[in-house]
Amino acid sequence: MTHPARSFEFERVLDGEELAVVRAALDGYPGYDMIVSQPVAEGFGAGFLNRHDVVSHYLRTGGISGRPVNLRELADRTNFFRGTFAYGERVEVSGVEPYLYSARLREAAARLYGLPVVEPAMVFVNLMLPGQELGVHADVPEFCGLSRDEAPEWLMVVMHHSGLFERERVPIATAVSWFGDASGGAFFYWPDGPRADPREIPTHDNHCVVLDTDSVFHAVAPVKWRYESERPLLEIGVRVVWSAEEQRWIVTHNQRELMRLTRADVRVSLSWKARCFETEAQRDQVMGARARGEGLTLDEALTRLRLDLHQRGRLSSPDPGGDPRELIMALLETYLEFPNSLSD
Ligand SMILES: [Fe+2]
Repeated sequence: MTHPARSFEFERVLDGEELAVVRAALDGYPGYDMIVSQPVAEGFGAGFLNRHDVVSHYLRTGGISGRPVNLRELADRTNFFRGTFAYGERVEVSGVEPYLYSARLREAAARLYGLPVVEPAMVFVNLMLPGQELGVHADVPEFCGLSRDEAPEWLMVVMHHSGLFERERVPIATAVSWFGDASGGAFFYWPDGPRADPREIPTHDNHCVVLDTDSVFHAVAPVKWRYESERPLLEIGVRVVWSAEEQRWIVTHNQRELMRLTRADVRVSLSWKARCFETEAQRDQVMGARARGEGLTLDEALTRLRLDLHQRGRLSSPDPGGDPRELIMALLETYLEFPNSLSD
């Protein structure tokens, strides 16, 4: 059997009328809101950020650019803006359909895993302003029975990278594409593993890459100003909207305008995700597992991980009564191998 390709790139993801429809939907969106990483409120890992793995690595390394980070700038540099255009069965924004149901993307997803049943699950639109970037990370995976509603996001990532949950994992294909030609903001990814060199894709209009972002680490380099000038430090609650009249992105906070940006200043990317299955029967079995009380639970996952860590000599006891902090540190340090070139 030949090894499946680790990524597919398209020079053009949409054509003609379909491209125009998606562009109009991007411009017409009523307001892209800032994404904020929240701490886990209760249960296992309470008090740690949902993406503790990403934030702590970013603070240590400064991301792709290696620019030193201080806490004051952290939110400004990494809290990008998002619009949810499709989620689950729901199309939230009319006009996203040509992208959500793209035959080109579905075909690439099927080839990525060698799994023919491809179910598009979501489309997010991400906006990044000049100076913003995305730290090195892997995306949050899914498991039969267990979702990010029941487990911290960093733990889901650790579970997948431990290799102990292959049986329960739902393979997800991700397509990343860009609309507009922002300066900087290149996409870096490590398809040959964290010890190999990354590949780099500059931001190109209507260009696309399909890959397994749950397994492959990736990051975004800082977006540059096309025309150099100062911009205010962004606070939580900032919103971005396209003004057709002004032909500018308008950035506001509590309805107060902070700045205007040209198309070329703002990086616009679409993230498409699809679950992939061998058969329709398998899809129905996996997707209905939680409702039937089947599949993996958080307790089972932690039991499996504790046992493995104990066998590796990384945890003093496999019993559930141990120190949760010792367990959390062992999980983060044992299973996540960030790319070498960027680790400290
Ligand atoms: Fe990602």
